[in-house]
Amino acid sequence: MYIFKSKEELQKHLAAFSKGETIGFTPTMGALHLGHMHLIEQSNLKCDISICSIFVNPTQFNNPNDLAKYPNTLTTDLEMLENVKCDIVYNPPVNDLYVKGEKAKSYDFGSLTTILEGEFRPGHFNGMATIIEKLLNIINPTIAFFGQKDLQQLYIVKNLAKQMKSDTYIEGVETVRGKSGLAKSSRNKLLSENAKKEASLIYNCLNYCENNKAIGVTKLKSHIQQEFLKNENFTLEYAEFVALKTMLPIKDWEAVNQSAVCISAYHSGVRLIDNIIL
Ligand code: PAF
Repeated sequence: MYIFKSKEELQKHLAAFSKGETIGFTPTMGALHLGHMHLIEQSNLKCDISICSIFVNPTQFNNPNDLAKYPNTLTTDLEMLENVKCDIVYNPPVNDLYVKGEKAKSYDFGSLTTILEGEFRPGHFNGMATIIEKLLNIINPTIAFFGQKDLQQLYIVKNLAKQMKSDTYIEGVETVRGKSGLAKSSRNKLLSENAKKEASLIYNCLNYCENNKAIGVTKLKSHIQQEFLKNENFTLEYAEFVALKTMLPIKDWEAVNQSAVCISAYHSGVRLIDNIIL
């Protein structure tokens, strides 16, 4: 496995591959888990060369504490990538991707950014799109892999690729869950064992929605709110039903559009998000 710290080294290496070889790219911020491994496995299956970037992108953190607390597990990350047979890792310092003082670009993603993470993490998607645009331009992958756990991010990146007129196909990959249903996330490393057990409440609520669609959006939403009120260690930030294509809230199931239920909640100071497509 090759590890590059600068885009020049990476691009020089990539230039040696023949044009016919397909490149799969998985961007990450490290603190890797089985969800990331699943993305790389998909990349290995679908592409000739798999590249993973590890870069904690400062411009997408609207909360400086969240950035400071973000887990750093580089040694284990590299071992995991080696084990999953990733070919190339790009792990640059901040100044390889940003000039000093550079801020996030300002994008227009229409309705995709108005609610959910767009509402509760102002500036987050501009920062995320800024780094993804840079990475897609550097690597020019055939397919880029994104987890469905960050559902809004996935749809925004699809939109970004269109705006960039990029040839890269943006592939959404299903969420990987632990036995209790808790979605794999780098932030889970910040949870105690007990908190992890309690955090299965999020999946239980999502699952309830899937199994009880017939009672309708309003009742499902109040069911989730009631369940969260019962657990004093949890604070529900949002439980929202959205149309997949627009990420706009729905009050009733829409005949044509697929929908999703998205939850964000804090447990012991850790912010967790999850969703299910209904
Ligand atoms: O999902 C993430 O880990 C990040 O938002 C991403 C896509 C790596 C961009 O920094």
